[in-house]
Amino acid sequence: MHTQLLQPTPEGIEEAARLLREGHQVAIPTETVYGLAADGLNGTAVAGIFAAKERPIDNPLILHIADEQDWAPLVREIPENAKKLAAAYWPGPLTVILPAADCIPAEVRGGLDTVAVRFPSHPIAQAVILHAGCPLAAPSANLSGSPSPTKAARVMEDMQGRIAAVLDGGDCEVGVESTVVDLCHTPPRLLRPGGITPEMLEAVVGPIEIDDAVTHILQEGATAASPGMKYKHYAPKAQVYLVKGTPEAYARYVNAHKAPGVTALCFDEDIPHLEVPAVTYGRRDEPMEQARQIFDALRQLDEQDAQTVYAACPSLKGVGLAVYNRLIRAAAFRIINTIRVIGLTGPTGAGKSTVADAWRQLGVPVIDTDGLAREIVQPGSPCLTKLAEVFSPAVLREDGSLDRAELARRAFASPEGAQALNAITHPAIIARTQQLLEEAADSGHPVAVVDAPLLFEAGMETICHHIVAVIAPADLRQKRIMARDTLDAEAAQRRMAAQQPDSFYCRAGVSVLENTADEEALRKQAVTLWQKEEWSTP
Ligand code: TXA
Ligand code: MG
Repeated sequence: MHTQLLQPTPEGIEEAARLLREGHQVAIPTETVYGLAADGLNGTAVAGIFAAKERPIDNPLILHIADEQDWAPLVREIPENAKKLAAAYWPGPLTVILPAADCIPAEVRGGLDTVAVRFPSHPIAQAVILHAGCPLAAPSANLSGSPSPTKAARVMEDMQGRIAAVLDGGDCEVGVESTVVDLCHTPPRLLRPGGITPEMLEAVVGPIEIDDAVTHILQEGATAASPGMKYKHYAPKAQVYLVKGTPEAYARYVNAHKAPGVTALCFDEDIPHLEVPAVTYGRRDEPMEQARQIFDALRQLDEQDAQTVYAACPSLKGVGLAVYNRLIRAAAFRIINTIRVIGLTGPTGAGKSTVADAWRQLGVPVIDTDGLAREIVQPGSPCLTKLAEVFSPAVLREDGSLDRAELARRAFASPEGAQALNAITHPAIIARTQQLLEEAADSGHPVAVVDAPLLFEAGMETICHHIVAVIAPADLRQKRIMARDTLDAEAAQRRMAAQQPDSFYCRAGVSVLENTADEEALRKQAVTLWQKEEWSTP
């Protein structure tokens, strides 16, 4: 098949509309990305889109309209929220999911009973829809899995010979696909972030829910609210890694890994600091610019034959969330966190929390793993389900919460039991710690503390750049434990006897803070050590 390149003249638009009316597939510009359009009420024409893109058939399409009157026949109802959002942001980069009317071909719905509708603001897109006289089904005009195209030449790269025509409308203004919000769900659920930000949605409809798949990999066995979320996406040929951390840490990391084929996908400001070839996707504090450039930058990486790409992580605020959502998929969820992690450990009663608190006062985020140990066994959590499976449903109370005493009786009955318990809880605590470290990096912290009594036992030393142990003489610890937990001397001693000796903590390379009785002195020691090591410098 020959693919015509049409110009955005009245003739070009009329020709595109004619081809569409006859059931062909034509790529058209929109304000977000180029769409691969076909008559949305003609199942055969729509099937042609899936064939041209090699798209999995269970991934539904968006219907594009060019007049607000035109959505009533496509949906079973238009709820109040939908009217408000349409009034606020249509025409524009917003797609709403509503119950589908009977006239919608199964091909468009991907087998679901809902349909996605959008009213684009691009004048050429509107003109084509109006001239074609039907709603146009249009996914992004790339081969399935490739970055979406934001200029006609990029569409040609993927679609030449596969479709009837490409209508050239220049560069797309927004650059990432529309915001998709599911209105069949209460509260409205954001399935895909785009040019209309969560804040903009909430300003109109109140609180919304952000689907987990927006920022996280879909857990095994979970069903995607939006089928498109589960597929490999936006991926260049290179292996992309998303690097989180400060600009300084990013440059340091990339330069430390320079090798043939290593390329940076970075912000304009990073260029002078990098010693490897680089493709930029806008300025660091300009998310709209990043959105406009990200897909083309991903395609440029292939042209440069990049093998390994270290991508600088955008901010998750505003439109940044949309950029992050695309990049994390381009990186197949491979994240490198450059945040410096200081591990804090030691036996109970020595003064760990005093040290943690002194550092917290310096503005350093402190992750308390004792708190996480409680958090991961909340009712309904995967960890709790696993515990019930391995030990006995008897560890669950009637209300679904954990019966700690029962679990302890069963788990600590044998060394194997204790091991089985740790094999379930330790990985969950580490995973949650990693998440919190990512969040700390996302908010610009160069360093964070992980307060972990079981740091070594849980294997957490591998995520720490440096470890600090707090120890204290036995009599002091006993006094502190008695006061803290209102225990008598004997009970405090029993607790201490169950613990590792100081030598277990004071290993090679570990900084040791010794608590000699005076709380204030310990605080001072902690702050002095922090400042001397310059842990807060990026
Ligand atoms: O900006 C855009 O939305 C572009 C331009 C061309 O308009 N189109 C676009 O389409 O990005 P596509 O097919 O690449 O992405 C549509 C997304 C997919 O993730 C799909 O799974 C989701 O919307 N989707 C479509 N219908 C859905 C439905 N009924 N329920 C849930 N998700 C749906
Ligand atoms: Mg797409």
